Amino acid sequence: MKFFLDTANLDEIREAASLGVLDGVTTNPSLMAKEDGDDYPAVLKEICDIVGGPVSAEVVADDSDEMIRQGRTFARLSEHIVVKIPMTPEGMKAVKTLSADDIKTNVTLCFSANQGLVAAKAGATYISPFIGRLDDAGMDGMQVVADLVDIYERYAFTTQVLAASIRHPMHVVEAARLGADVSTMPYKIFQQLFKHPLTDIGIELFNRDWAKVMERRKANVRR
Ligand code: G3P
Repeated sequence: MKFFLDTANLDEIREAASLGVLDGVTTNPSLMAKEDGDDYPAVLKEICDIVGGPVSAEVVADDSDEMIRQGRTFARLSEHIVVKIPMTPEGMKAVKTLSADDIKTNVTLCFSANQGLVAAKAGATYISPFIGRLDDAGMDGMQVVADLVDIYERYAFTTQVLAASIRHPMHVVEAARLGADVSTMPYKIFQQLFKHPLTDIGIELFNRDWAKVMERRKANVRR
């Protein structure tokens, strides 16, 4: 499973990339609004340079012509750009056109297997089911991931399932168990993946015991 960071924060991306297990980044207008800057293309370019892997850049438009125009502009920034397009009929027209130009796409705001099936038929590179927002609405977000993994395998679609709107580490584990290709997550959850209280306790114990060995060694050398 690939790990993507769901953020437009350059410090978080640098920090996560330095750990060596980051594969890509997804951004959106809301994530960009949380940061100070207003130059989205410049931020995207910098993210691409840091990560060297897929970076989703979201279009903001209602009609396919404008989505295609924005998508082509993003794609010129870097070979790593993936154009993020909302799951609407106009969006699917844009996906079809951009895919034909070999521009990678990520269909976002997917809340059902039906939508994911349409996106795959349009030629999307990635589909982003929003797990957390479905759970928040009292539905089972992970079921959409399970359905899409199953459907894509059955029909040999190459569209990758990108589990998005992840709220906690168990979402990542469950998406991995179901065979999702990617999980995109906030930095806080990425950090949580590394942690377990028993690991911390274990390190403390080993350090304490090793200090005892060193003390004994010092005493033996003095003798
Ligand atoms: O990648 C999509 C993601 O940003 C949505 O997450 O937490 O706003 O539901 P959230």
